[in-house]
Amino acid sequence: MSEKENKKGAQILEDKTGAEHIIEIKDLCKSFDGLQVLKNITFYIRNNEFITLLGPSGCGKSTTLRIIAGFETADSGIVNFEGADLQTVPAHKRHINTVFQRYALFPHLNVFDNVAFGLHIKKVPKDEVKERVTKALKTVGLEGYDKRYIDQLSGGQMQRVAIARAIINRPRVLLLDEPLGALDLKMRKEMQIELKQMQRELGITFVYVTHDQEEALTMSDTIIVMKDGIIQQIGTPIDIYNEPKNAYVADFIGESNIIPGKMRKDLEVTFAGKTFECVDPLFPEFKKGEDNDVDVVVRPEDIYVKTEDKDRINGTVESIVFKGVHYEIMVKSDNGIDWMIHDVDPVTVGQRVGLTFDPDDIHIMRRSQFSPDLDSFGVKGSDKEENEDE
Ligand SMILES: Nc1ncnc2c1ncn2[C@@H]1O[C@H](COP(=O)(O)OP(=O)(O)OP(=O)(O)O)[C@@H](O)[C@H]1O
Ligand SMILES: [Mg+2]
Repeated sequence: MSEKENKKGAQILEDKTGAEHIIEIKDLCKSFDGLQVLKNITFYIRNNEFITLLGPSGCGKSTTLRIIAGFETADSGIVNFEGADLQTVPAHKRHINTVFQRYALFPHLNVFDNVAFGLHIKKVPKDEVKERVTKALKTVGLEGYDKRYIDQLSGGQMQRVAIARAIINRPRVLLLDEPLGALDLKMRKEMQIELKQMQRELGITFVYVTHDQEEALTMSDTIIVMKDGIIQQIGTPIDIYNEPKNAYVADFIGESNIIPGKMRKDLEVTFAGKTFECVDPLFPEFKKGEDNDVDVVVRPEDIYVKTEDKDRINGTVESIVFKGVHYEIMVKSDNGIDWMIHDVDPVTVGQRVGLTFDPDDIHIMRRSQFSPDLDSFGVKGSDKEENEDE
């Protein structure tokens, strides 16, 4: 690390917005028993943001969080907190606190004493303890629960106690590892909204871990999509949903139709046997006038079911399932591609239909190791490229 990087407050990672980075992580690597679980993880966390690590089980989310918390050491890489190296600072001296999925509350203590625990250890005066615990319980919506024992609480209430205990020391950063995992769906949705409100009111940076894409989209300012210890994409929920970088992200974040295609020029793409107007230019490395392989994403809610027509993708309805707000319709087009469509109007199985979409609902991606299998689309002669991060 250079002297400049070491200086407190200096940012080492570029950020066009110029916002202050409370945490910066660069080239973080970690192996367990010879197996690399984090591969050059690099990202920054802006002050006061709600940032989410999202990815399937085993992709390294908790390991990343545990390294930030100080419960785990990295093999190599940089973890900076407000510009200073954090890796020599012991966990209890970091201005960072953690809420775990299993709340680790003390069953023999009541709510008040669970929340006050850290303050008692620090020998904070009694009056101040009372004032701070009361305020923390108010923040998490548990006023009047101070005398209750942990086994007299619901899962959601226990979760609130764990959060109250974590915010009482006024950490600069709160790490939350799947904190809502044990709650039922309705409670989880309520807590998602409350947590987000709490984060805004408290002005604390939240680093949240989940494998639930909907949860990540609902709560986050920024989402980091991980797979097998590698970051696939970092962006706002809208960016990640509308502009997924590769087929993996497109598939993981919401439902999508991913189809191999070719681009020969700007604003035009050929897939599913037809050429469509689109809003994307060629990627810089593409050659004009040649067949450049791409993946095309069209979200199910962006496809319209109309009548058969020579300019449309024609096919037959294979199934229709009512999903509450919309119908999920599967259509097999005459060229053998399966399309998923979300529509509020029903169709009947066996019905002949024509599918359309708008140019700005066609999203173009580079082909990658996650691309759909070309053989299954009857496309030959194109090999998948390795997924290279530019
Ligand atoms: N202490 C450890 N010793 C050995 N292997 C470990 C240890 N901690 C984690 N791993 C392995 O590292 C990989 C990443 O684990 P991690 O807990 O970070 O995943 P995760 O993304 O949090 O998954 P989940 O969603 O299931 O919690 C996994 O393959 C896991 O088995
Ligand atoms: Mg985990």
